[in-house]
Parts: sequence; structure tokens; C-alpha cells
Amino acid sequence: MAETTTRAAEPRGFRSAELGWPELHRIPHPPRRLPLLGDVLGVNRATPLQDSLRFARQLGPIYRRKAFNREFVFVWGADLVADLADESRFAKHVGLGVANLRPVAGDGLFTAYNHEPNWQLAHDVLAPGFSREAMEAYHPMMLAVAGRLTDRWDREQAAGRSVDVPGDMTKLTLETIARTGFGHDFGSFERDRPHPFVTAMVGTLTYAQRLNSVPFPALLRRAAQRNADDIAYLNRMVDDLVGARRAAGGDGDLLDRMLETAHPETGERLSPENVRRQVITFLVAGHETTSGALSFALHYLSRHPEVAARARAEVDRVWGSAAVPGYDQVAKLRYVRRVLDESLRLWPTAPAFAREAVQDTVLAGRHLMRRGAWTLVLTPMLQRDPEVWGADAERFDPDRFDPKAVRSRPPHVFKPFGTGARACIGRQFALHEATLVLGLLLRRYELRADPGYRLSVTERLTLMPEGLRLHLERRSGSGATAAPVADSDEAPAASESRCPVSGAGD
Ligand code: HEM
Repeated sequence: MAETTTRAAEPRGFRSAELGWPELHRIPHPPRRLPLLGDVLGVNRATPLQDSLRFARQLGPIYRRKAFNREFVFVWGADLVADLADESRFAKHVGLGVANLRPVAGDGLFTAYNHEPNWQLAHDVLAPGFSREAMEAYHPMMLAVAGRLTDRWDREQAAGRSVDVPGDMTKLTLETIARTGFGHDFGSFERDRPHPFVTAMVGTLTYAQRLNSVPFPALLRRAAQRNADDIAYLNRMVDDLVGARRAAGGDGDLLDRMLETAHPETGERLSPENVRRQVITFLVAGHETTSGALSFALHYLSRHPEVAARARAEVDRVWGSAAVPGYDQVAKLRYVRRVLDESLRLWPTAPAFAREAVQDTVLAGRHLMRRGAWTLVLTPMLQRDPEVWGADAERFDPDRFDPKAVRSRPPHVFKPFGTGARACIGRQFALHEATLVLGLLLRRYELRADPGYRLSVTERLTLMPEGLRLHLERRSGSGATAAPVADSDEAPAASESRCPVSGAGD
């Protein structure tokens, strides 16, 4: 099972930077490097990403860090990242955090090595599950799950209680991917505590993150046992779900695709073991990041009443008196989408992705890389690079995603969904779901921040605002009294024929 054993804090294929970067000495590292330990002074094991951002600010657009015997190169300068997006010279690197998930997700889409045949097979079989046609079929299910959220929030509001934003967004996004992908209901909204699936999933993500920062996994023996139990639980749950589907048949969702669809050219199908990996992958990848994105967006909306008012006015104008929005009415919420994009700019909830050289090359004309050398792209810093985003890059301003402003920026400076062939397959799914839910919440409630709350970000490979609670006020007549739909804002052209991944994040 575990590919992360013995020599071995190191995932398979781990390459310390000195092996791949012949001129490593030209890349700065933090001062006060300690023998044996490396750059550990002042770092916090619970917040590796936020530590990396701090180092980035001190050391510049490319730097390195050493943790014990392992050295990593981090990149965030816009010209360097643009060069790394060149698919003819670079590809996804499955390293560290991602490779640590292999014991649970194996060669599922997210964790597959580029050379593994199951990546292309699953990509080709599952990509149509994210076409416009498929998304339209998910829309009513997304609405139904959102209805369970607003029922809950109505009750909390009526009782004068604030709402737990990250907790409820996690329930929402888990139920959404479970329902749309697998016809399953975890009953999250009816539970006081998280579903055991969520507890086991958070356990494995946290364990994978901890493996990054300990020199010897033996130090984590008890945690490793808990992790093995978590994985066993996830496997059992998924096997039950798949077994029930095989017995009952399905209705054309992602799981049906996994079980029934043959590759259009080769006729090959996903093996039962691979289906298990994919179900876990989609249940995890399909909700953890979107719940963070929604939570950050709600935080910013509550802190910027002028932005919330503008977004709400758009919802009222575009959705009018429709009891529930149609599929096309979601893409027309252009300003709400900008709020989401701006939240994902400041806090991309999957905050880094790794790229490796597929040949000996020179990064951005300056840094020699041997074939197989790799680097971590720090998305939150890329998306705050003052040279691209201006001196006020840290400020929340959705107008940065006004089409004219977008056109004025170079490509590859906004990458919350990664890049290239291995970019996020669920991007449209996440954007549709999150825009829909923000629209529904803005239409129904005024969001009131707790004045004492200061944004604190918790990390478990993905990012989430910690302890965020909001007070709600029901809007009078919300949802049924506004003006009719304005049709002038054209929705973006449908792209059924294209792979939903191509161009993602560019
Ligand atoms: C706001 C929400 C989301 C964000 C920020 C996000 C971000 C990302 C990023 C950065 C990657 C590339 C990782 C890498 O290069 O190593 C990725 C890949 C992936 N995402 Fe997402 N994601 C989101 C939502 C979703 C959803 C809703 C699904 C499924 C329904 C999903 C499924 C996947 C899968 C399967 C991959 C692997 C694709 C491949 O390698 O072929 N994601 N995502």
C-alpha cells in the first residue's frame, strides 16, 4: 500500500532540488539556515503555505527552502510562471502533498503520474461528464441542495443565531458532488457533527500535509495508524456506494460513466480498483476546494457592503421574479462571478501546483533545469504580484476581473485551477455551483460580519477561513419582486465540443 514509507518520508520520484537545478546557488534561501534542520526557524507546521508566502515576500519571485535533507524551489514571479505553463517543456509534477495522497487516491485523476495509462483513459471517459450538457443536468440537483442550505440558514436566522460558514459550505459542496456525481445523500444538513466521510477525509488530508514536514514518517506512527483506518473507512464507504449502484442501475451521472462508459477509441473501461480511486478523488476534489472558495467569497461580501449591494442588484436584475434561476441565468451573473474570481485570486483554495521539466531547459532564460527537475508554483503570490496586479494587489476589488482589465494583463497570471492538460477538470462545475449559491444567498439575505472577526486561514492542503460566522437578515420580498430578466448580457458561448479542461485558468 503506502508509497510513502522508509527512505521514504519521500514520495516515489521525489527529487531534491540540488539534483535538478545545476545553478541552485543562484537561487536565494532564507538567512539563518541550520545544519541538518534547514530553514525551519520561525516556521509553523500548521501553516506551511502561509510560511511560504512570508518567505516569498522576503526572497523574491524564485527562492528555495530546505526542510531537513530536502530542498524545494518555489516560484511565483509572473514571467517565470508563464514559462512553466509551456506544455511543450513542462508538465504536472506529482510530488510532495499530491504524492502523499497516493495511498488513498492511487492513480485517480488528480494523483496519477503523467505516464500512467489510467490518467488518459479516465480523462477521456470522464471529461464529457463536465460538458455543458452534463452541467445543465446537474443544475436542478445543485438547486435542490442549495435549498437545503437556505432552509437551514432560515432556521438559524429565525432563532437569532449566526451561521458557521465553512461548516455549512462544506455540507453544501459535499452534498452537491455526492448527489450530482454519485446519486448519493450523506444527510449532512440533518447531522450535528460532520459525516464520518468528512472526518476521515480531513484526517487523510491533514496527515498528507504533515508528512511533508517531518523528516521520518516513523515519528508519526500513531497518526499513520489513524490514517490507515481513515483510508479503510473511505474505501468501505465507496465500495458500498458502488455496490449499491451496480445492483440498482443509475441515471447517467459520473458514477455511471465510470462503470459503464468505454473509451470512445480503444473501447477500454476503468477497472473496479480505478473506479474506487476516482470516486474518492471526485468526492474529495469536488467539494473541499469549492467550499473554501465560497467561504472566502462570503467573507469578502460581508466586509464590503458596497460590493454586496452591487452583486445583489445584479441578481435581482438578472433573475427577476423567477422563483428559481434557470441554468443560463447563472452565467449571466457577471459581477457575482467577478467576486468569486477576486476571492480565488487572493485565496486560491488549492494554493500551489507543481511543474517539472520534461527536457533539459532554461526557465525564463535564466535558470537551468535538468529533465525531471521540478518547482512549486505559489498561486497566491503569483496572483498578488504587484508588477502585474498593481501596488494595491492585496486589496479586494472584483473590478480587476472586468473584461477590459482582464485583457490588459498578460496570460497565465490567474491560475486558481492549475494549468495545461492536468488543470482542474471540475472548473466549470465549481464555478457554476459557487456562482449559483452566491446568487441565491445574496438574493435571500443581508450578510453581517462579526466586527471582531479577523481573517485567519487554516490549511490542510487546501485553504479555508477559520471560525468564520456571519449574522443574517432576511431580505423582504426577496426572490419574487424584482424586475424581469434583462437579456442583454450574453452568456458565454457554449463549448460542448471542446475538452472542458483546455484553456482552464488561462
Ligand atoms: C474552486 C474550486 C476548485 C479549485 C480551486 C480547484 C483547483 C484545482 C487545481 C489547482 C488542480 C490542478 C492540480 C495540479 O496541477 O496538481 C485541480 C485538478 C483537479 N480538480 Fe479541481 N478545483 C476545484 C474544484 C473541483 C471540482 C468541483 C472537481 C470535481 C467535480 C474537481 C476535480 C479535480 C480533478 C479530478 C483534478 C485532477 C485533474 C487531472 O489531473 O486530470 N475540482 N483542481
